[in-house]
Amino acid sequence: MNILLIGGGGREHALAWKLSQSPRLSKLYCAPGNAGIAALAERVPLKATDLDALVAFAQTHDIGLAVVAPDDPLALGLVDKLEAAGVPAFGPTGAAAQIESSKVFSKGLMAKYGIPTAAWQAFDDPVAAVAYVRAQGAPIVVKADGLALGKGVVVAQTVPEAEAAVRAMMEDKRFKEAGARVVIEDCMTGPEVTVLAFTDGKTVVPMLSSRDHKRALDGDQGPNTGGMGAICPAPGYTPELAQVCMETIFGPTIRAMTAEGRPFKGVLYFGLMLTPDGPKVVEYNARFGDPEAQALLMLLDSDLLELMLAIREERLAAADVRWRSGASCCVVLASGGYPESYQTGYPITGLPADTETLTVFHAGTALSDSGQLVTNGGRVLGVTARADTLDEAIDRAYAAAEPIAFTGRRLRRDIGRTHP
Ligand code: GLY
Repeated sequence: MNILLIGGGGREHALAWKLSQSPRLSKLYCAPGNAGIAALAERVPLKATDLDALVAFAQTHDIGLAVVAPDDPLALGLVDKLEAAGVPAFGPTGAAAQIESSKVFSKGLMAKYGIPTAAWQAFDDPVAAVAYVRAQGAPIVVKADGLALGKGVVVAQTVPEAEAAVRAMMEDKRFKEAGARVVIEDCMTGPEVTVLAFTDGKTVVPMLSSRDHKRALDGDQGPNTGGMGAICPAPGYTPELAQVCMETIFGPTIRAMTAEGRPFKGVLYFGLMLTPDGPKVVEYNARFGDPEAQALLMLLDSDLLELMLAIREERLAAADVRWRSGASCCVVLASGGYPESYQTGYPITGLPADTETLTVFHAGTALSDSGQLVTNGGRVLGVTARADTLDEAIDRAYAAAEPIAFTGRRLRRDIGRTHP
């Protein structure tokens, strides 16, 4: 079967790596891919948001499954377009992907179906939003309604900080239309855990738990990023907590989406906070997380392509979802200046050879005209190791990351050692 994978970051390299292990794969294409993915797939020079061109490519290349990995094409309805054109596609429809692409929709869904989350209100008027912030006090969370490259959430420690976030989003249009509406919600406390789940709209199968480290600097300081590293599984996520989450969050969310006429098929990302009042939803994403996918896929034993086909064909209840024992860790090497401005084009040296338990997933990389591997994005590489214990996996990932060099290289030194 020919597969077209859409996207070009570290998550997509991990997906390409795992899909390549399937005996059912004939040929893998990736649009647009990156320099690491090029070793596994034929790159297709199309942007992930170039929907019509992607559909046309799939139709002319005998694609048996198109895997739509990033948030933007999902929100734009690429899965709907592919399916309408007769191309089988993995991922939620545009209507179902609203669970990520509209915070107002997802908070409303949780309110309607009694799914635990922070108390909130939505605003499309900045004056009313500021008045609410002043009445509530700080700390308080301001979220842009739409997709904002992972930067649309401000956890404000003071009222002026929250007001500035409201003004930046609603008046200065920092995220364009994505910030025309905002959600303002209470600040929750507790360890954060990510649980991704396979779902075909009827059955939900949670994956191993994981934990992302979103802040740029050690000790969970600095600005939010797309993610500076991840571990799997997340310490403290006990079988008892998993049971509570299944009963109060995972199952109810899937049933709610179906009841709303938006059955969710694909991978649903539950960003959770283990509050003193029990687990609550911080956010949903309509896709694999990045860098959670890198850590998770190192431990997935089952054939990912089989699972994706089972989900699309609503056969997940009978599918075989198996995990390796042990733990994994992904350490992200980023460009100096990320998540703000940064330079690209710096040569990368010192990459270790991949082994069965260590893989360097490429995110922002490219090949220069002379064939030299160079930096080409904010997050550059995700050094990912697995081992029998989490401590060993962390040590191995850092040991492999150490010799990798490029100008401005930045990494957190405490991935898996702190608990955001
Ligand atoms: N790591 C967070 C995300 O993928 O949105």
